[in-house]
Amino acid sequence: MSVKKLAVIGEGRMGSGIAQHIAACGIPVVLDGISEQSVSNALGMIEKNYARNVEKGRMSEEEKGRALENITITSKLEDTADCEFIIECVYEDAQLKTGIFAKLNEICPESTIFASNTSAIPISTLANGCGRPDRLVGTHFFNPAPVMKLVEIVRGFKTSDETLNTAKQLVAELGKVGVVVSDTPGFLVNRLMHAFRNEALICLQEGVATMEDIDTAVELGLGHPMGPFALNDFAGLDIGLSAAATLYDNFKDPKWRPNLMVKKLVEAGDLGRKTGKGWYDYTSGKKELRTDIHF
Ligand SMILES: NC(=O)c1ccc[n+]([C@@H]2O[C@H](COP(=O)([O-])OP(=O)(O)OC[C@H]3O[C@@H](n4cnc5c(N)ncnc54)[C@H](O)[C@@H]3O)[C@@H](O)[C@H]2O)c1
Repeated sequence: MSVKKLAVIGEGRMGSGIAQHIAACGIPVVLDGISEQSVSNALGMIEKNYARNVEKGRMSEEEKGRALENITITSKLEDTADCEFIIECVYEDAQLKTGIFAKLNEICPESTIFASNTSAIPISTLANGCGRPDRLVGTHFFNPAPVMKLVEIVRGFKTSDETLNTAKQLVAELGKVGVVVSDTPGFLVNRLMHAFRNEALICLQEGVATMEDIDTAVELGLGHPMGPFALNDFAGLDIGLSAAATLYDNFKDPKWRPNLMVKKLVEAGDLGRKTGKGWYDYTSGKKELRTDIHF
């Protein structure tokens, strides 16, 4: 089945990026956020991103106009009731996410498919209380969502064939490459990435190299666009810490235990680029080393 109208819940980095991409692909999308002000700020950011794409010749002025017409913003969950496929993109918190699915279950017709963009929480955990576990699927986009090609399509314990096939078709219609993965904590990419990041943290703690040299080595030696510390700042340290906690809680294997340096940064509110400081300091507009923190 081709999806005619979508909704995205959560106007943060991922939610606004996914809505931006859906609208540019010609599909109407309702973007729901926590308040009128914050969702209107998110729309302003989307408009700026389209304008940059026009400047760079990636889209025409007319395409920008049509894409913007495809976006409706709201802060009322009820306004998503006529959407056939709803992608939840709120904070990485299982209780918050299941609460939203429970409310959506009351608002939406039985046929509506629910999807989660969770980084690591098993879909089967989120299915508890959603009222339609067969119509819940993981669609894990990557950051920045308009650019990154991969979407992990996560099949939960009770996800039906029909739901999985609709998700696969939607992902293809959005010009992305879907990889179906089973419902395991961290799924595939984040499980691999956390193993890699954990080793980088151990190397830092053992004094194998400095943080900036580890990032440089990974960029130049492995060809990654960003080293593990810069990537952690880009994605958000809070998101990374929550994903690590999900891996640890589920597997109970010490190799996944959340790192105390990351915990200190998150507790201090230094969440990476989005707050101006994380492993690095971005407050001057450039990526600079920090001298104000002591682990
Ligand atoms: N940042 C990444 O690199 C990345 C990549 C892939 C997946 N994810 C996942 O995507 C999800 C969102 O991450 P993010 O980076 O966009 O986080 P973010 O902190 O940028 O945004 C979260 C948004 O959720 C909104 N929100 C909270 N409660 C809400 C509610 N009840 N109704 C509507 N909106 C609500 C907040 O206002 C905020 O804008 C998380 O599950 C995360 O794990 C993140």
